[in-house]
Amino acid sequence: GKTIIVTGSASGIGLETARVCTAMGAKVLGVDVTKRFDHVEEFYRADLSDGATLDALIDVLPNGIDGIANIAGLPPTAPAEKVLAVNLFGLKHLTLGLIPKLNNGASIVNLASLAGFGWPDAIPKIRASENVHVDDTARFAAEHQITNEGGRSYFFSKEALIAWTMQNRWTWRDRGIRMNTVSPGPVDTPILGDFLETLGARAEEDARVMDRPGTPQDLAPIIAFLLSDMTAWIRGTNIPADGGMSSNILCEMH
Ligand code: NAI
Repeated sequence: GKTIIVTGSASGIGLETARVCTAMGAKVLGVDVTKRFDHVEEFYRADLSDGATLDALIDVLPNGIDGIANIAGLPPTAPAEKVLAVNLFGLKHLTLGLIPKLNNGASIVNLASLAGFGWPDAIPKIRASENVHVDDTARFAAEHQITNEGGRSYFFSKEALIAWTMQNRWTWRDRGIRMNTVSPGPVDTPILGDFLETLGARAEEDARVMDRPGTPQDLAPIIAFLLSDMTAWIRGTNIPADGGMSSNILCEMH
């Protein structure tokens, strides 16, 4: 079986992904700041917003990893620099640090969001964020005025994540290592209420046009599929899984 790292394994989409991967015969190494490890083979408690903690985690994780599911994430009810650190800069730091420990053919799956679809409008700020260290997140946020107003910190974290994943479509091609994003629309997990609170009218409008929000059970099989060898030719792309929301937005624009 494969060895898969799942961040955010204690709740929501990460918890369900850990369950599905285990059921498919993988050895799941769970990572979360919240302690909950009944459904994973090994559990690593870590705050993914802190550089020293990330370096210690990279050090202690074993060699021979076949997949990373970067699912841990924070809504914009958390401080803006925390949102950016966990959803973007910490994710990148962990992933890049683990590249030497990956087996050939490994798959990396990053949880982005429908909230990241406006990435082309954010290219200058995305470029400015490219080489920012996770411990410099607060300075970057202040310099570029990325606050929680209108959920901006969250939107930017997902925009930059989609762009970074696309940019790295072929970075590890010689080793067969590929990376993709999955972008859900609203999913019924503990943070859905935080989005309704912080994104206001926009989230309410989404809720109005949808028949139902997604569930972790809607998302986990897609993530597991992307971690499997069946998707070796899906590289550097974004897979929406949103009950039709992204095509609805595009159709209404044209
Ligand atoms: P959740 O709150 O159920 O799970 C997130 C997990 O991340 C939690 O277990 C939490 O402890 C962990 N986490 C947060 N900060 C951390 C830190 N500093 N260090 C380590 N772990 C940390 O939320 P959900 O919905 O399962 O979210 C998973 C991913 O899906 C997130 O990246 C989120 O942005 C994304 N997403 C969620 C949507 C939704 O409507 N629920 C929609 C689109 C994307």
